[in-house]
Amino acid sequence: MKSRSSWAEPYKIKMVELLKMTTLSQRKKAIREAGYNTFLLRSEDVYIDLLTDSGTSAMSDVQWAGMMRGDEAYAGSRNYYNLEKAVREVYGYTYLVPTHQGRGAEHLISSILIKKGDIIPGNMYFTTTRLHQELAGGTFRDIIIDDAHDAESEHPFKGNVDLGKLEALIDQYGSEKIPYVCIATTVNMAGGQPISMSNLRAVRELTAKHGIRIIHDMTRVAENAYFIQQREPEFKRKSIARIVREICDLTDGATMSAKKDALVNIGGFLALNDQETFEEARNLVVVYEGLHTYGGLAGRDMEAMAIGIRESVDQNHMHARVGQVEYLGQRLQAAGIPIVLPIGSHGVFLDARKILPHIPQEQYPAQTLAAELYIDAGIRAMERGVVSAGRDAKTGKERFPKLELVRLTIPRRVYTQAHMDVIAESVMRVYDRRSKIKGMEMVYEPNYLRFFQARFKPL
Ligand code: F0G
Repeated sequence: MKSRSSWAEPYKIKMVELLKMTTLSQRKKAIREAGYNTFLLRSEDVYIDLLTDSGTSAMSDVQWAGMMRGDEAYAGSRNYYNLEKAVREVYGYTYLVPTHQGRGAEHLISSILIKKGDIIPGNMYFTTTRLHQELAGGTFRDIIIDDAHDAESEHPFKGNVDLGKLEALIDQYGSEKIPYVCIATTVNMAGGQPISMSNLRAVRELTAKHGIRIIHDMTRVAENAYFIQQREPEFKRKSIARIVREICDLTDGATMSAKKDALVNIGGFLALNDQETFEEARNLVVVYEGLHTYGGLAGRDMEAMAIGIRESVDQNHMHARVGQVEYLGQRLQAAGIPIVLPIGSHGVFLDARKILPHIPQEQYPAQTLAAELYIDAGIRAMERGVVSAGRDAKTGKERFPKLELVRLTIPRRVYTQAHMDVIAESVMRVYDRRSKIKGMEMVYEPNYLRFFQARFKPL
């Protein structure tokens, strides 16, 4: 484990948002009313909100100033052109279709490229990405290295593709059945783990040989680039901006949830290099999102995104961002709490299987642990285990993933080091009383993306 002298923030605080402090009995009532699902809590009942790093960033003063320059014209807003310029300059993709958020872009690309019966290999699934692939008639196939499914493996690039797995799929189905390979930077469900440049290059080489596209889920690409800089010797002296550009250049198009890396509260896009696919996407976006120069966003949102994209590749920003996550992870590690290693870029993932070994996966250990953390100190985390994995599209049976995790996701530029200490202390308290914690049963289950709205009852 590398120690870091300082990850201090390259900014100071100009405005604060006051938080409501709650009592234990208030929290017990709130989580009961929320069906023991942290997604169903009211945010005002939460002290430290680690549900997600999505849309929860603090924008800079420059971004807020950009909001005032919103051009809210229905068509041809100047902010669209600023965003297109930022996407071209920072990421290098030629064509831009803005969408309201990442899943809007996933919907477009899945409906355009996937035919019934197609196979979409990916370096682990993401919930919305896989669902859009399935709704378009495709089947997701996991091609990530086995290490990614092992919370204890300290492989520095657990987001890597197992080329043997990809090659086997190409042999089995032929390239005509594989419209694209989906490559995520970083891999959220594996614990915010990066893919290495050398692995991505190899994936590019193999897919190019078979004429298969790479669609890049670039939600946290700058964080991935930071890890490449830190861990892949060839990139030690290269800027994050250059590494980001090199990653994007190895792919054919991208879906982006700008609510993460790009430091905005809402927004996303589909970016493409091939004109034909772009024209189809530009046509389809008007059906589902909005005109092709706003895609469901206000002009001001596009302006803030254009600025956020540039801020996201700043070295000092990323050093502090990932440094803060590492600080929390290292405190937990020092206390002997089982977490996913190496520590990821956007959060610390608690290994609920190890923390609550007496609760079988059928009784939702990660969901239970997330509820316990809220009860302890008002910290809201997210289940990333069997509830998130949902049911198999064909058999209807629950999927039991190897990773049964609770994600402590750190919003960008929002919380302080003292907050990180409060979180660590709360996790330690829950860990100390772990043997007394009992599992739960699901009492309401929605059809799609059940984790958002499912309800539970303690056993
Ligand atoms: N891809 C990845 C890797 C994501 O993490 C997300 C969202 C999306 C796509 C979808 O983007 O939310 O803008 O529609 N992840 C959030 C999270 C929700 O909490 O991890 P979206």
